Amino acid sequence: MSDQNPTAPRPASHRGTVAGAGVVPDFAPAPPGGQRRFAVIGTGHRAGMYVAAITGEHADVATLVAWLDPNPGRMDYYDAEVGAALGLGGPAGLPRYAPDDLERMIAEQRVDAVVVTAPDHAHADLVSRALESGADVVVEKPLTTTREGCRRITGAVEATGRDLTMTFNYRYAPRNSSLREVIASGEIGEVTSVHFEWALDTVHGADYFRRWHREKESSGGLVVHKSSHHFDLVNWWLGDVAERVYASGGLKFYGDKNAGARGLGERPARGTGVVGDPFALDLNDDPRLRALYLDSERHDGYLRDQDVFGPGITIEDNLALVVDYRGGAVLTYSLNAHSPWEGYRVSVNGTAGRAELQVVERGAVTLDENGKAVLDPSATPEGFAGHALRPEGERLIVQRHWEQPREHRIPAGIGGHGGGDAILLKDVFRRHLRTGPDPLGRAAGYLDGLRAVAVGIAANRSLVTGGPVLVDDLELGADLTPAAG
Ligand SMILES: NC(=O)c1ccc[n+]([C@@H]2O[C@H](COP(=O)([O-])OP(=O)(O)OC[C@H]3O[C@@H](n4cnc5c(N)ncnc54)[C@H](O)[C@@H]3O)[C@@H](O)[C@H]2O)c1
Repeated sequence: MSDQNPTAPRPASHRGTVAGAGVVPDFAPAPPGGQRRFAVIGTGHRAGMYVAAITGEHADVATLVAWLDPNPGRMDYYDAEVGAALGLGGPAGLPRYAPDDLERMIAEQRVDAVVVTAPDHAHADLVSRALESGADVVVEKPLTTTREGCRRITGAVEATGRDLTMTFNYRYAPRNSSLREVIASGEIGEVTSVHFEWALDTVHGADYFRRWHREKESSGGLVVHKSSHHFDLVNWWLGDVAERVYASGGLKFYGDKNAGARGLGERPARGTGVVGDPFALDLNDDPRLRALYLDSERHDGYLRDQDVFGPGITIEDNLALVVDYRGGAVLTYSLNAHSPWEGYRVSVNGTAGRAELQVVERGAVTLDENGKAVLDPSATPEGFAGHALRPEGERLIVQRHWEQPREHRIPAGIGGHGGGDAILLKDVFRRHLRTGPDPLGRAAGYLDGLRAVAVGIAANRSLVTGGPVLVDDLELGADLTPAAG
């Protein structure tokens, strides 16, 4: 089962099966019969990772009891998959519900916890209703897309005292954990500034311009949808919270106006059936995408493969932010969604030195003989020219003042997203069985979710006003101050 966006890169560490020492926390064995009852809300692509986890590795602590989605086709898909995984010889036949019936589902199916993998704009409503109906919540990033959503979720958490887990998988990627260790060790002193550059390539980056992500009101734009991962990392690395945000950016590559200005001419409205266009996603090329989206279109008209140079895109593809942190550090951040390679670079300056993390997730996107983008160039017989110059990989260099640089060894991870997803899942489903605290503090809750989206929501306001925005002025309804220590 694919555990991330099918158009996203598969880093080298994706293939690891044995994690480095200290990467995976220790858990006590599960007591017999102690399964918590889970329902999955939003049965699209991302749900697959959780469904596989509940019916596979974590079946001793969790059991799936219901689906909730407006689209019966996608619930059919997963129901058949679970039936096959459990060897039932047919669909699992789990009860299914529409979004309006969330409260009834939780009561009827005695749901202990829901996994929310619905589109971002629906999170606030679904999360708060689930909490208010007596279930704990595991929610994908971003927590929500608006200040109203933040307040709604804060109100529900405070009123119910129930547990909300934010699945910030990037924290669990060993390379990102290693940078936190370096900063926390004091080796580079007090952090004064962070420079963070994230490049999404013309396959993965383009994918945010094909469906609901392309609308600001559905995703909050990439500065909320995508960058909330990155802002969470910075918040977590520094143990700090953003105070003031200035943002600039725009839609400069994708969209009909940019395409017109570059003389691209008339284009098909969708990618399926298009030959020879590296920006076209053909849903027939991937049986899973075909089943989840193309075959399910007739139920709700959700088009997964819209043209990235079509009309109606209201998000940015180039973003630059300056973020002041309460503790005094400043973050300069940029996101580009049409890069020829994919990865990120982080430089952390401190009073005693500097740490630099460089990650290449995909060194180039090349085209096959039909003009289709080759997702995994290393799988082609001839390889590709950029390999030697920009090899896939990761490197963390630490250098103290007056000393030579040293390479900080990054331990191996397991699973997707730089080795983060599989470890995250253990923490999501087995945290109650941990034998000791996590020295890295990787588990994230709703306050971490709020701190991350606060930066993006402030950035969205800054993009409109043209001026800096104080996070406190957003009045998100919660005290964002991190706990001491
Ligand atoms: N952490 C990561 O790396 C990562 C990766 C991919 C996606 N995600 C997140 O996972 C979530 C889902 O992404 P996706 O790519 O699977 O999206 P998707 O569009 O493929 O799937 C969303 C599903 O939710 C359903 N849905 C729509 N409105 C709903 C509602 N009101 N109630 C319940 N279900 C509803 C849709 O029918 C669809 O089946 C998003 O929040 C996204 O940001 C996170």
